[in-house]
Parts: sequence; structure tokens; C-alpha cells
Amino acid sequence: MVRKKRHRRLIVFLLFFLLCFRPIQCRSATSSEDVDAMSDLSLSLSGLPSSWKPGSDPCSWDGVTCSAGRVTDINLVSRGVSGSLPPSLSSLSALTSLNLQHNRLSGPLPLLPNLSSLQSISLEDNAFDSIPDSFFAGLLGLQSITLDGLPLAPWNLTRDLASAAGLAEFSAANSSLYGPLPDFLGSLPSLSILRLSYNHLSGTLPPSFAGSGLQQLFLNSQQSPDKLSGRIDVIGAMPQLTVFWIQTNAFTGPIPDLSNLTSLESFNARDNALTGVVPASLTASLTLKNVSLSNNVLQGSFPQFASKSVAVDIDKGNQFCRPAPGPCDPRVTVLLDIAAGFGYPALLAKSWKGDQPCGANWLGVTCDAQGNAIVLNFANQHFGGEISPVFSNLTSLRQLILSSNDLSGSIPGSLTQLPQLQLLDVTNNSLSGKVPAFGTSVTLKLDGNPKLGDDSGSGGGSSPFSKSTPSSSALIAGLILAMAVAMAVVIACSVGFYYRRRKLEEKSKHILTDTQSYKIGLNGLNCNSESIAPISTDSLNQYSVEAQSMHISIQSLRTATGNFSKANILGSGGFGVVYKGNHNGTVIAVKRNGYDLMGNKGNEEFKAEIEVLRKVKHKNLVALVGFSNEDRERLLVYEYMAGGTLTERLFKWQDTGEPPLNWNQRLVIALDVARAIEYLHSFAQESYIHRDLKPSNILLDKDLRAKVSDFGLVKLAADNQKSMQTRLAGTFGYLAPEYATTGRVSTKVDVYAFGVILMELITGRKVLDETQDPEDIHLVAFFRRKFSQEKDKFLTEMMDQTLELDEEAKQSWAEVGDLAWHSTTREPHQRPDMSHAVNRLAPLVDQWRPTNYVDEDDDEPSMSLTERMERWQCKDTTFTTYTFDSTLK
Ligand SMILES: *[C@@H]1O[C@H](CO)[C@@H](O)[C@H](O)[C@H]1NC(C)=O
Ligand SMILES: *[C@@H]1O[C@H](CO)[C@@H](O)[C@H](O)[C@H]1NC(C)=O
Ligand SMILES: *[C@@H]1O[C@H](CO)[C@@H](O)[C@H](O)[C@H]1NC(C)=O
Ligand SMILES: *[C@@H]1O[C@H](CO)[C@@H](O)[C@H](O)[C@H]1NC(C)=O
Ligand SMILES: *[C@@H]1O[C@H](CO)[C@@H](O)[C@H](O)[C@H]1NC(C)=O
Ligand SMILES: *[C@@H]1O[C@H](CO)[C@@H](O)[C@H](O)[C@H]1NC(C)=O
Ligand SMILES: *[C@@H]1O[C@H](CO)[C@@H](O)[C@H](O)[C@H]1NC(C)=O
Repeated sequence: MVRKKRHRRLIVFLLFFLLCFRPIQCRSATSSEDVDAMSDLSLSLSGLPSSWKPGSDPCSWDGVTCSAGRVTDINLVSRGVSGSLPPSLSSLSALTSLNLQHNRLSGPLPLLPNLSSLQSISLEDNAFDSIPDSFFAGLLGLQSITLDGLPLAPWNLTRDLASAAGLAEFSAANSSLYGPLPDFLGSLPSLSILRLSYNHLSGTLPPSFAGSGLQQLFLNSQQSPDKLSGRIDVIGAMPQLTVFWIQTNAFTGPIPDLSNLTSLESFNARDNALTGVVPASLTASLTLKNVSLSNNVLQGSFPQFASKSVAVDIDKGNQFCRPAPGPCDPRVTVLLDIAAGFGYPALLAKSWKGDQPCGANWLGVTCDAQGNAIVLNFANQHFGGEISPVFSNLTSLRQLILSSNDLSGSIPGSLTQLPQLQLLDVTNNSLSGKVPAFGTSVTLKLDGNPKLGDDSGSGGGSSPFSKSTPSSSALIAGLILAMAVAMAVVIACSVGFYYRRRKLEEKSKHILTDTQSYKIGLNGLNCNSESIAPISTDSLNQYSVEAQSMHISIQSLRTATGNFSKANILGSGGFGVVYKGNHNGTVIAVKRNGYDLMGNKGNEEFKAEIEVLRKVKHKNLVALVGFSNEDRERLLVYEYMAGGTLTERLFKWQDTGEPPLNWNQRLVIALDVARAIEYLHSFAQESYIHRDLKPSNILLDKDLRAKVSDFGLVKLAADNQKSMQTRLAGTFGYLAPEYATTGRVSTKVDVYAFGVILMELITGRKVLDETQDPEDIHLVAFFRRKFSQEKDKFLTEMMDQTLELDEEAKQSWAEVGDLAWHSTTREPHQRPDMSHAVNRLAPLVDQWRPTNYVDEDDDEPSMSLTERMERWQCKDTTFTTYTFDSTLK
């Protein structure tokens, strides 16, 4: 099967050569499938720019961007274009962004199955009239989609969307969306913006929102008869929330404790049926800028917000005890605490008006002539929740009637302290726990509570006995925890022992103990200045002066890249476009952040990237030589890497006319990458995490030595923190499972991605291969399943068929496979450190060292990592100088 495919590839490859005299020419020719699909598109639309001539090369059309002969971006924003989208759009398999917003496009949206590289779709403000049921099927790479204001036929959100693990923004306001909010929305690991206002949604907030990374949630103004409803407690567990808009719906219950929402800015719940006291966590928030709570049934004292700058809309249609800030009557305060135990029922919120519980017909409250509550009767009101211990503050209380509700928990012991109590009626509820010891003057009615008197009940309560129940269960929990910790330690130790033993077996040259300090500092280095090559030419001199400040004017970058001419494009993607340029004789690569998915995000990444790149320098990291941030343009200038990306050399060698990478070359690349990441992980007191390691971020020089690039995603980890929570960034397929599900990032996230790259190197298969059976699409799952098979079968099934290995090389191949397997272990602590990967790969490179390969690091094998790092850093200067020098023409 695999062999057949190889043959086919070979034939395609030969045809390719026969058809083209000069492979160079073919390299830049646009894929004929894309030409056909784009011709089709241009014939289906009208009002297009004049460059859109069917049959001509679409890469030269206005608004079309290509990379390696494939159409990657279509951008026709606000062009007054009309017509409909043809189904053939789905053959543009390299498309990453489709921006057609603000036009007059109509007809149905086409199915785009299998366009797994599509990252961004913007179609808002058009006249499309329907969306296919399985529109989201196979759009695995989707990061952002906007469908706002489309007059679509009624549609539902389907589970297909759940596979878009990188989805960050989903926006479909006013687009005739029906049905409930599906639970999978909260489980999408990257989702940060969800905008579904002005639709016909119904049902409740899904429980999965708890712990999700959602930052902006717009669900206001649903047009369905029932609107969105239920309680909003779940938002108390959404710490990232900054904007929460649910106005004009039917939500009920109180605003929960929001003290974990440390960046909340806008809270709009106007026109709902929220009850209860506005929590102090909301009024005390200093990040809050805008709060709107009018037209609910909120209770308690009139809220006063701590921040002076917050815009407040709260005074209309609520049930505060007084129309201005200030404390409520103490009886009202106690009664509201009691209502809190029942979850602030709507019935009480509507009936309990003003600041006078006696004489104003408050539901369930009967007072004596002095204004003391003597009877509370809440029989048969469908109240849930618990009996509040605060009942005991109503010392005048004689009768407490709570029969026929849904109360749970236990009877609080504090009720025994009510001096006047004559009757306690709790018949027909779901109470549990021990009944506290009431005096003989109290009549107890306890029937219809099957679990009452049974001390295994889970209820809290405050009698001396029931207090001991939680503490003993805490003891058991503690014991379980201790056992779990002990087991974890045993596992960790045995894993550690395993690796230590493996290292010894390998006769590794550089054994690192866990306690060895990796600390290195750029300042305290004893670099031998003689190792720095003298700067010789004038242009280099000028270059170095400029590089010191790092800032390069946009004008000189325009000159260097021929005004960002298309002919100079090296590559493009969601991050922007990379141009080749010639800056005063030095060949450079200029990264231009064109498409900005989320406003500030790009800017922050830009600053982060510069900060990191100025600090970290290593011969296997692509060097930043400058940047520019004038005219709202954000440009990064890197050294130029003549060999292109690993993706091109590993997966697209047929297109480039180059031979496939041989085994030695792959080993050297793997070791180069491992060293770069090892360096990042143990940089000075800090540890940098790449977070987006993948073959397209690994660049090769003309000798196929690898350098790691794209540091926009690197995050600083404090020394004492082994892992920390971040916004998810990375690429589907290379994301470690714990990172994808919890957002917790550690150095082991890079180890996982490195393991995936090793798998790609040894199998020649892409991490996501849609031509395979569904269960085999993801290389990691496929590889790990096959790994457990007998070795011969594994070798024949998994080895890249372009590799021709003798017995010894097969051994080395299997060794790398073993490292890949360990590096992609599900549990992060079971994955080896990057230094372990370096130590396992280095002897293999040694063994397979081609005659012309010089690894300047292995000439003194006794050096410690620290020493080696210092040398790399010292050499880095030499190396960089050398690179620029050699590229001066
Ligand atoms: C919703 O979209 C329709 C057109 O489809 C438009 O007429 C209407 O004004 C929009 N409503 C809102 C609230 O934006
Ligand atoms: C799907 O949408 C239809 C309207 O097209 C709606 O009536 C139905 O309740 C929705 N079903 C589900 C399961 O969401
Ligand atoms: C806030 O977060 C902490 C830590 O995750 C948690 O223990 C606590 O219960 C949370 N508080 C609320 C009100 O959810
Ligand atoms: C507050 O939010 C509402 C919408 O919820 C908006 O109309 C208003 O302009 C906002 N006010 C401020 C000061 O941001
Ligand atoms: C109830 O009484 C206790 C003890 O006297 C007091 O600490 C608490 O604040 C009172 N609760 C209310 C709601 O008044
Ligand atoms: C409790 O429930 C039983 C059975 O449903 C009913 O006969 C009885 O009247 C109820 N008691 C009270 C006090 O509501
Ligand atoms: C999607 O890809 C699968 C597997 O390659 C293929 O069988 C299917 O026909 C494709 N679907 C379309 C509509 O192209």
C-alpha cells in the first residue's frame, strides 16, 4: 500500500521533470487545480478588481496571496462584490484565510470539506442565505470564523465544530442560529471570543463553560420565545472573562461570587430576571468599566461600585431596599440571608419590596405589633437549597414552616438556640443528617424526609456531631491524597531511574544530575575576544552599528524588499508574510505581521518576540537582526536561511526538485533542534518555552543545519514554577494533551512537540494526514499504537520509504523511534528533559557523522552543559558575523 503510493509519487516526480525543462520555472508556477478553482470563482462573482481575469495566474490578482504556487489568502473586503461562492472553492487545499466580509455575496455557503489548513473565515455582512449542516466538518485548523448578520435559513451548531481545537473566535451574531448552546463550546481549548447575540438560542449556559478560557461572551438579545435562561453560577468559574453580555434574556437566580474574575471589564445583564444581593466581588472590582443591571429583581442595599470610573446602569426596575446606597434594615438583612439559602427564589424577590418586612405584605412573613417576625411560613413554594443557620438571628421567631419544598442538607444546630420557637415543620423535603436536640417545648414535624436522622448524610449543619462528619471525611481525603502523592513519587522515581539507567547504558558522555545548576548569564561570560572574527567590510560595519540599536527604518526595509514586492515573498500564513530582502548587501528575511487576528494580541506577541530574541542567542536559533514598528507596521528582520523550512525539505521535496533528506541529515537536524530547545529551557535564571515547535518553524541553512524560529509564542516561566497557565497558542497536532486541555504550559510541551517532529522525520509522514483512515489521521496516535507491535513489523510499516538504511542505521532509526515514543508520553512528567534528548541523539550523530560534518561542540566531550552553553554563546558572535559576512555579495 505504502509502496504503491511511493511509486505513484515517483511517477509524478518524473512527469514533473519531463514536462518542465527547468525545474526552477515549475517551482513558481501556480498549481493548475488552484488556477481552475480561482477561474471558477472569478466567473461566479461580479464587481471584482480588474486583475481577476479567468485563466490568468491567480497569484497576480489583487487580494490574492500565494505561497509555493498555492493560493493561501483571498481578501476581498468591502469591494461591493456580488454573486455566489462555487463548490469548487473546496479544492483550494492550501487556503489559510478567506476574507469576504462586507460585500453583497448571496446564495448558499459552499461546503469546504477537508480544507484543514483554513484558519480564518470572515463572511459577515453579506447576503448568504444558508449554511450546509456539515459546514464545519474537516475544518481542523480553524482559528477564527465570523458569520455575523447573515440572513441564513435557521441552522444549529453541530459537533463538527468540536474538532477545531485551535478555534479562538466564533462570531455568528444575528445569523438565525437556533437550538441550545452545545456543551462542547466550553471544551474548545482555545476559544476566547464567542459572539452569538441576536439569534434564536434557548436553554442554559453549558456547565462546560466552567474553567474554559472564554474571555468575551456575547449572548444578548435572543429572539426565541424562551430566550436563554437558568442560573449564571458557572461564570464564577470563568476566571478569564472580560466581557459578559447577556442582556435581554430570561436568566434567573443571583449573580455568583466573581472574585476569581480578575480582568472583568464589561458586565451587562440588563433586562433579565436576576435576583439576590449584588455580590461585593462585583462592586469591589477595580477592572470593571461598564456594568448594566437595570430591569432585574435584584435585592439588598443599593450597590455602590468601588471604581470611580465605572459606567453604571442599575437604578431602573430592581428591588433594592432603598433607592440609594446605604444599609438595609437589620431584619431585611437577615431575611435576605435566609433567602440566599434557598438560592434567592424569584417569588421572594418579587414580593419582598422596600425596607419594611412587617406590614408590607412580605410573602411568608408574619410580625407582631412591635415589628418582630414571629412566623415564617414558606410551605409548598418549591424552594430548593438549604435551611440557613441565619434563621437563628430572628430571636422572636415562634413558628418556622418549611413543609413540602425541595430543601436538602441538614437542620442547622443553631435553630435550637431560638428561645421562642414552638413549631418546626419540615415535612416532605429531602433533608438529611442528625436532628439537633431541640427543647421539649418545640413541636417537630419531620415526616417525609427519608434520609433524616441517618448520620451518613452529606449535610453540613453546625451541631457538634455533624461538624465532626466533614472533618473525618477530610481526614480520609487527606489519607488518599498522601497515598496518591506517595505513588506519584514512586512512579517518578522509577521513571527517573529508568532514564538514568538508559543514559548509563548509552555510555553517555555528558551525564547531568538533577541538582546540577544550568545557570548561565550573558554578562558573566568569559568569551575569548579573539574568537570573534574581525569586521572587515564597510557595509558590514554599518550593519553592525545598526544592529546594535536593532531598529531599522521602515523605509530601508521597503527598499530592501522592493517595496514588499510579491516576487520576494518567501512564505505566508496566519502570522503574516515573510519577504526576502537585500539590506545594504546583506540578505535578510523580513516578517510582516499583516493579518492581525485579535488586535492587541499581535502587538503583545511582537514585543514578546523582540524581548526574547534580544536575550537568547544560540547557533541553532534563527537570529533577529532588527525590527521596525513605524506606521502601525510591525516588521521583524531575521537572518536569511537559504535552505527553506523543514516542512519543504521533508514533505515537499518533490515540488522543489531536491532529493529527499537522507538519514544522516535528519539526525543532524534533530540534534540541532534538540540543542536549541535545550538552550531555551535552561536559559539563565529563566526558562523559555517555545510553545509552537513544528517543522515550518525549523529553518535550514545551505548545509542543511537547522535553526529554530518563530519566538512570538515563547513564554517566560519563573524559576520556581514548573508549569503555568497561559492562553493556548500552538498548532494542532503538535499540542501536548495537558496543554490543549488545561492551558498549563511547561517545558514538557516542547518535548512533546519535539517527539512529534522526530516521528515525522523517521516516517516522512505529516502529523495530520487526511488521506489515512480516520483513526490513523493523527500521526502520534498511529505511531504509538504501532510501536507496541513487534519490531520488524514496526520498522517496515513506519519507516519513510525514501530512506535506504543498512542494519546499523536501522538500529539508529529505531533508537530515535524510541525517543519519539517517550517524548510523546501522555503524562508530562514521564517525558524526558530536552537534555536527555540531546544526550541520546549526540552519539547517533557521532556514529553517522558524514566526513564533511563538523560538530564543533563535540571536540571536548568532557565539557559540562554550562561550559558548552557558554561556548555556544561566545561562538554565536563569531557565527553570526560569519553568516553576514558570507552573505555579503
Ligand atoms: C440583523 O440582520 C438583519 C439583516 O439580516 C438586519 O436587517 C438587522 O438590522 C440586524 N439586526 C441587528 C440587531 O443587527
Ligand atoms: C435546530 O434548529 C431548529 C431550527 O432550524 C430548531 O427548531 C431546533 O430546535 C434545533 N435543534 C437542535 C437540536 O438544536
Ligand atoms: C476561585 O479559585 C480558587 C482556586 O482555583 C478556588 O479554590 C475557589 O473556589 C474559587 N472561588 C470561587 C468563588 O469560585
Ligand atoms: C456600556 O455598555 C453598553 C452596552 O452594554 C453600551 O451601550 C455603552 O455605551 C457602554 N458604556 C460605556 C461607558 O462603555
Ligand atoms: C446573625 O447573628 C450573628 C451572631 O450574633 C452575627 O454574627 C451575624 O452577623 C448575624 N447575621 C445577620 C445576617 O444579621
Ligand atoms: C406530605 O406528602 C404526603 C404524600 O405526598 C401527603 O399526604 C402529605 O399531606 C404531605 N404533608 C404535608 C404537610 O404537606
Ligand atoms: C475528504 O477527504 C477524504 C479522505 O481523503 C475523502 O475520502 C473525501 O472524499 C474528501 N471529501 C471531499 C468532499 O473531498
